[in-house]
Amino acid sequence: MLKPSYKEAKKRTKDKINVLRDEYVIPSSVKNLGMGKKYYIKTYGCQMNEHDSEVIAAILEDMKYTKADDYEDANLIILNTCAIRENAHNKTFGMLGRIKHLKQTKRNLLVGLAGCMSQEESVVDEILSKYKWMDFVFGTHNIHKLPEILEAHENSKKLEVNVWSNEGNVIEGLPAKRDSNYKAWVNIMYGCDKFCTYCIVPYTRGKQRSRRPDDIISEVRELINKGYKEVTLLGQNVNAYGKDFDDLDYKMENLLEDVAKTGIERVRFVTSHPWDFTDKMIDVIAKYDNICNYIHLPVQSGSSRILKLMGRRYTKESYLELYNKIRNKVKNCSITTDIIVGFPGETKEDFEETLDLVKICKFDSAFTFIYSPRVGTPAAMMKDDVTKEEKEKRLYELNDVINKYALKHNEKYVGKTVLVLAEKVSEKDDSMLAGYTDTMKLVNVKADEKYLGQIIKVKITDAKTWSLDGEIDE
Ligand code: 5AD
Ligand code: SF4
Repeated sequence: MLKPSYKEAKKRTKDKINVLRDEYVIPSSVKNLGMGKKYYIKTYGCQMNEHDSEVIAAILEDMKYTKADDYEDANLIILNTCAIRENAHNKTFGMLGRIKHLKQTKRNLLVGLAGCMSQEESVVDEILSKYKWMDFVFGTHNIHKLPEILEAHENSKKLEVNVWSNEGNVIEGLPAKRDSNYKAWVNIMYGCDKFCTYCIVPYTRGKQRSRRPDDIISEVRELINKGYKEVTLLGQNVNAYGKDFDDLDYKMENLLEDVAKTGIERVRFVTSHPWDFTDKMIDVIAKYDNICNYIHLPVQSGSSRILKLMGRRYTKESYLELYNKIRNKVKNCSITTDIIVGFPGETKEDFEETLDLVKICKFDSAFTFIYSPRVGTPAAMMKDDVTKEEKEKRLYELNDVINKYALKHNEKYVGKTVLVLAEKVSEKDDSMLAGYTDTMKLVNVKADEKYLGQIIKVKITDAKTWSLDGEIDE
């Protein structure tokens, strides 16, 4: 058994980051384990998890499992979990409750826990004491070891816990079964060294490790050859890309430029921390048409006092300076953000500063959250004297302002013709296709399925807070 340890996970050593290319192997005893069996993966949380689930799916398919559309039809269920806020925990444990019932009637069902919650000491302790009926737990650092973990379980028939806390390596050569045939996630870095005081990610995802540029570029080239139109470069803090190379002076602006030069039709990247956002990056984004005019730039708070307590390394003023620089240099850029309300000690005045900043920036949209204490982080030790009611009131008030600007931005599109990557049939109406503009506006368009996977011209006819409606403009 290998349990996670926060003490280990917190460590940041100067040890060399190795790129390991031969770590993914399927032991012969389990290479047909999934023959005639189905798997179901439930994914919680961010895009990083979504992409990890694509890798887990491909590994299972390499072991001959096939996909089940519903967890009740599966012989193997994996919950790929998120630890960022308490409600992500609650959802996972709720799902485990339902699966427990299924397991009582389906004796050969295997159930595993993966993702960020697996990296939490307290979660693994809870699994070991109250969820002994589960079959395996693995973490974010050893996804490639899944076949070996399943092999160990085959032999022991007991709960296998195999979670690494401290990982300094980059694993290459993993397969991925991508959800879309048109747009793809491409990891460019793993982990985060920022240690914002509220955030669990540096503990669950480990130290920052950038993938080598050649590996990223060849992945993008391969995607182009397969017909992909869009890539999103993924990392917890993509602007810090390359800072961990000791033999190479190659940063995010270089990578963005080289990815743009591959000729892929659209390049996106998430998530940006304002601290590492350089002028050179802004210039590259402005220069290349295929780098989308869309930047997600989490601010978290508009109060410099709270930002300092959050360990964010910028002030309200310096954020605004960066924000304006981007707006001035990248024409028609859409900018979205993340905001936390109710951080420990946030006063009414601090919150007013956040509203003030939102009114200045007029974000295209924002993800807003009530602060959720995460055990093991510095903020969890801070005195939290804002009541739950007050936090909810602030969130409500903030959302009201955010939504007003979101609608205003969308209304500006009415009557205009925009380019949309038609990526799926609309969930609400199967005569409609849904897709995004390069500015990341969701568009529902009346169009035939033959347009799927194409970048089409759409005339916008109506604007809502969260989406636009349009018709094909031929
Ligand atoms: N509580 C509430 N929101 C959080 N986030 C990260 N940690 C917490 C927390 N403990 C939010 C931040 C981040 C987004 C992904 O989740 O806004 O940018
Ligand atoms: Fe968390 Fe901050 Fe790292 Fe983002 S930059 S993952 S908020 S520690």
